[in-house]
Amino acid sequence: MSLFPTYLRHDVEFVEGRGAELIDENGKRYLDFGSGIGVTNLGHCHPRVTQAVIEQAQKLWHTSNLFSIPLQEEVSQLLCEQSGMGAVFFCNSGAEANEAAIKLARKWAKESKIILEPEILTFEKSFHGRTLATLTATGQNKVKKGFDPLPGGFRILPCQDIGVVKKATGSTTAAVLLELVQGEGGVKPADIEFVQQLAAWCKQKNILLIIDEVQTGIGRTGDWFAFQAYKIRPDVVTLAKGLGNGFPVGAMMAREKLKPILGPGSHGTTFGGNPLAMAAAKAVLQELKETTVLGEAKEKGEYLFQLLSDELADIPEIKEIRCLGLMAGIQLHVPVAPVIGKLLKQGMIALPAGENVLRLLPPLVVTKEQIKQAVSMIKQVFSATEAAGNGLELLQAVER
Ligand SMILES: Cc1ncc(COP(=O)(O)O)c(C=O)c1O
Repeated sequence: MSLFPTYLRHDVEFVEGRGAELIDENGKRYLDFGSGIGVTNLGHCHPRVTQAVIEQAQKLWHTSNLFSIPLQEEVSQLLCEQSGMGAVFFCNSGAEANEAAIKLARKWAKESKIILEPEILTFEKSFHGRTLATLTATGQNKVKKGFDPLPGGFRILPCQDIGVVKKATGSTTAAVLLELVQGEGGVKPADIEFVQQLAAWCKQKNILLIIDEVQTGIGRTGDWFAFQAYKIRPDVVTLAKGLGNGFPVGAMMAREKLKPILGPGSHGTTFGGNPLAMAAAKAVLQELKETTVLGEAKEKGEYLFQLLSDELADIPEIKEIRCLGLMAGIQLHVPVAPVIGKLLKQGMIALPAGENVLRLLPPLVVTKEQIKQAVSMIKQVFSATEAAGNGLELLQAVER
């Protein structure tokens, strides 16, 4: 093997996917409640997205950002319509979207507030990416170990408390960077009162509020963007994961007033927003806009939460269940890794979030029947009488 051993991979190789199902090289079927870490929100091989990418691949793949790309205009228009933002920069990943947001905030602070060394406030247990700036912004030491010296300009606050934010705000504060549901940090939705107070504080102090929606955006939490459920209007929003349904694409969106900050030559990317990526993103956004998938996802999220709460209520290993839309976290008293291994054996994919949280990110197109199957597989893993093979039998009942 000539790969860097950066990932502890499961010994499973998938060869095909449809909707919320994956098939491995032996023909075994799996219920996919991970969606490639919250990416394939419209399900594997979604016909509209697949068709759009195929058609674009036969026409034109890449021209560079030295030329106009009409599809970028269309996709940015769709994003602005739904988000109320006024400007979009396209890139390839979540970390890059956050890098763009950090650069925008710093340049804005220097130019409009004359802050020489702007500082960005972030929070404990957050996750913002693996580049040097975004891992520095991340509130988890495990991602930083061995990579110092780290860039300056970030302060990680110990908790999401408005008093703590107010105390930390000083003359050099340029922005606050927040996930509304900490994904990697354990599927923890932020308190609505805190978020609204934070938004008001940022406005009062002329500080940018950057919402990292890399994981929560594009329907994951039941709205286009999680900030809509929190009833706030951020200054900057970052996206990636679900935007291309598996085609790598990220975006940094900002309010109209911030548009002039990133002028010609200030920021750039070779690949970001190329026609192929834009064709995928356009199909995803049109699907969300023109169909009932989003409303149904919200309803299915409530169904998932209800079923998890009812069916897993008596399991002593489970401490708490948290859900927003189709983003669920089951807080355990025990390590999550063996649970994920057992689920995989049964034919279900789930994700960890830290050491003790089982994270479920099914595609928005998951059926209620599939949700029922998944919950019963989870129940089975925790039950003392767990019998090998039962999960597979259950899975055969999944509608295809
Ligand atoms: C909230 C959040 N921000 C940023 C990132 C980084 O995204 P990427 O892995 O695409 O760089 C992630 C990835 O998990 C994320 O969940």
